[in-house]
Amino acid sequence: MNVAFFDAKPYDRPSFETFGAQEGVHFKFFEAKLNEDTAELARGYDAVCVFVNDTVNAAVIDKLYAYGVRMIALRCAGYNNVDVRHCFGKIHVFRVPAYSPYAVAEHAMAMLLTSVRRIHKAYIRTRDNNFSLNGLTGFDLHGKTVGVVGTGKIGRVFIDICRGFGMKVLAYDKFPNPDAGLDYVDLDCLFAESDIISFHCPLTDETRHMVNRETIARMKKGVVLVNTSRGALIDAEALLEGIKARQVGAACLDVYEEESDIFFEDNSGHILNDDVLARLISMPNVILTSHQAFLTQEALHNIAQTTVENLVGFVRDGSCENELCYHCGKTDDCRKQRLKKCF
Ligand code: NAI
Repeated sequence: MNVAFFDAKPYDRPSFETFGAQEGVHFKFFEAKLNEDTAELARGYDAVCVFVNDTVNAAVIDKLYAYGVRMIALRCAGYNNVDVRHCFGKIHVFRVPAYSPYAVAEHAMAMLLTSVRRIHKAYIRTRDNNFSLNGLTGFDLHGKTVGVVGTGKIGRVFIDICRGFGMKVLAYDKFPNPDAGLDYVDLDCLFAESDIISFHCPLTDETRHMVNRETIARMKKGVVLVNTSRGALIDAEALLEGIKARQVGAACLDVYEEESDIFFEDNSGHILNDDVLARLISMPNVILTSHQAFLTQEALHNIAQTTVENLVGFVRDGSCENELCYHCGKTDDCRKQRLKKCF
């Protein structure tokens, strides 16, 4: 099987080459992101392998289909960049639903601790022989209330970590899990009562800009926001205003609404054209990592293994438990519907 691998980075290659070689899958690594201009590169390949900032809209899907591509293997969990509905009846789409919830949850806590204990400031100071503590006063996490939005795999691990710190946890989920032993509250209550809010839900039409001017105004003054989910959960301009007004005490962002042309690349020789991002980065109480939360050895290993298994398993068995299938509602006798695999 030949797979065109888009947006390839050096850290992707070893694990994909290893698992691919074991299963007879040959990956051709392209540094370019997939979009309408680069789709041509996939001509004649059986599948494409894509990541979070590749564009898989209707136009790209039509091109891939015309070039003979029949499978799209997402090497990530989120699939908001894929028009799954347009793929229906043409191209099969697989994802990696879980590879290490610990990687993302631990990164969220790492950012939170860095922020509230000013580690990012101290690191720079001590390298410059500045051993002053002025301005580095933090606060205890113990006893604080953390609101967790989305209590799936990552949210639950993050909650366990927070409980280890002696924090009170409020949870909100559109589909609460009654067996999770969590204090579920409505979103308004969570926003109003949390000292820290961490986001672990998917980006959907419903969750887009769930943090906006209005909801920020209803949060506790000095609230700390942690977003390791998807950037567009937060209206970045509203966040900037909230920070300038001292309503938001700090923001820990691993994702950003307009990240796709910026994150994952070395732009150090260039001027940042995104004024909102530039202003956010300039704030002493904003910590930004560039969609790094997933990046552990364990996660890379699991991502490559599952991606290869998805492709090989589908070709062998004609089905894949990680397939995303649009809910067409057209047939009463659909195995995917019976298995609740439609989206
Ligand atoms: P999951 O599917 O296990 O959990 C998501 C939870 O969100 C579910 O419990 C679901 O019921 C809930 N949810 C759905 N719609 C909601 C809504 N409107 N409001 C509140 N909750 C809602 O997913 P998982 O593995 O925990 O991942 C969560 C998110 O983390 C992913 O959607 C992805 O965007 C992000 N992610 C970020 C990574 C990074 O490197 N920064 C890496 C992996 C995932």
